[in-house]
Amino acid sequence: MTMRLGVIGLGVVGSETLRTLKDHADIIEARSGQAVQVTEVSARDKLKDRGINLRDYVWRDDPLSLVASDDVDVVVELVGGEGGVALQIAEAALAAGKHLVTANKAMISRHGATLASLAENHNVTLAFEAAVAGGIPVLKALKEGLAGNRINRVSGILNGTCNYIVTEMFETGRSFADVLKEAQEMGYAEADPAFDIDGVDAAQKLSILAAIAFGGTPHFESVDTSGIRHVSDLDIRFAKELGYQIRLIGVAEKTPEGLMQRVSACMTPKSHPLARVDGVTNAVLIEGLPVGQSLLVGPGAGGGATASAVMGDIVDIAGGRGARGFGGAASTLKELSVTPVSARSGSYYIRVMVIDRPGVIAAMADVFGRNGVSIESLLQHGRQPEEAVPVVMTTHDTNEGTIRNVVTELSALATVAEPPILMRIESI
Ligand SMILES: NC(=O)c1ccc[n+]([C@@H]2O[C@H](COP(=O)([O-])OP(=O)(O)OC[C@H]3O[C@@H](n4cnc5c(N)ncnc54)[C@H](OP(=O)(O)O)[C@@H]3O)[C@@H](O)[C@H]2O)c1
Repeated sequence: MTMRLGVIGLGVVGSETLRTLKDHADIIEARSGQAVQVTEVSARDKLKDRGINLRDYVWRDDPLSLVASDDVDVVVELVGGEGGVALQIAEAALAAGKHLVTANKAMISRHGATLASLAENHNVTLAFEAAVAGGIPVLKALKEGLAGNRINRVSGILNGTCNYIVTEMFETGRSFADVLKEAQEMGYAEADPAFDIDGVDAAQKLSILAAIAFGGTPHFESVDTSGIRHVSDLDIRFAKELGYQIRLIGVAEKTPEGLMQRVSACMTPKSHPLARVDGVTNAVLIEGLPVGQSLLVGPGAGGGATASAVMGDIVDIAGGRGARGFGGAASTLKELSVTPVSARSGSYYIRVMVIDRPGVIAAMADVFGRNGVSIESLLQHGRQPEEAVPVVMTTHDTNEGTIRNVVTELSALATVAEPPILMRIESI
């Protein structure tokens, strides 16, 4: 028997998937128990050189005609985008009773629950391992190896571009703009990097992880999201002095009231498992009972890492092991109530640019005192009378709503020259 694939989207991930499916045909057949063959492909431009011999496949200008073809059993969607043609492909494939494999985090984080129901109604598999952390099989780990655990928290470095930028800033002392430009030249960052550096990509992945970890529908809209644009070389210098790293971290955690999801640039103690993950590498830390902490590390993006995850899903389907996308049945996925980040309890880093004059520190200490926030450490370097100088404070555990009040009150002080920088300190 042969399982016939139709691959739509032949860009970075699609072309690597085609190449590897061909090169690894023997392994795939041995592991799944049947041959897997790409019969049809589709992309926008038939004439584009992709380094692949497209004569081996039927070409379809219209991706929906590929989906409808009698020579395709499984549709592999590698186009991307939250809606549009990708969603049309997904809906048409599942409704036609064809398994769907996709790497599309934007689509799954928004429409995953509906697509999972559609797949179940038609008794087929919706598989999207490649949508989160590429070469790290973390969805499989949550759905299979760790399935018996009660998960408390999933956190991770989910965007290689951001991790590359903050790692380079930390190691070389260069500015954000400088390192971003280099990342673009090296192909680690897109020409329009907003999606990555503003935390959106990480938030999409986090919402998928959280849905699987906590048995809910993915809730991208409720991820409190910020990125790394505001990370300055000054904060990097203070982080070093305080013994922290700076990382863009996504955290999804169970609270008594529901689920809290956040993505932000954080200070992390150097002993934190995620602080040691450098460069474009991704990592996911799963905390649950009885396992304790389980850390998975690996390449999160790029053609090879993502194709690896796509092929894992294909082998599962060919071997008759296609699992449900979110682990549990779609009908059991709950609408988890949202716990706002204002309820977070933890410590914080605050940098304030203040006009250097007597009484300034006392005025700031008064704001902290009145809000009941206790300062753990205070750093001020250099003296420049009547000039703005940085003062950095870290706090003991407090509540995020309270620390935001503190920041608002600090901003209103006449001696504070610009809006303070607030960063969460994420510890274990
Ligand atoms: N790149 C990564 O490292 C990575 C990692 C994880 C997940 N992903 C996900 O993988 C998916 C693909 O990403 P990618 O980086 O491979 O993107 P890409 O390089 O931009 O490739 C997109 C492909 O889709 C084709 N396409 C666009 N519109 C189409 C349409 N209307 N009909 C048919 N084909 C169409 C394009 O055709 P042409 O080539 O003819 O223009 C291109 O081949 C996305 O969901 C992305 O989020 C990517």
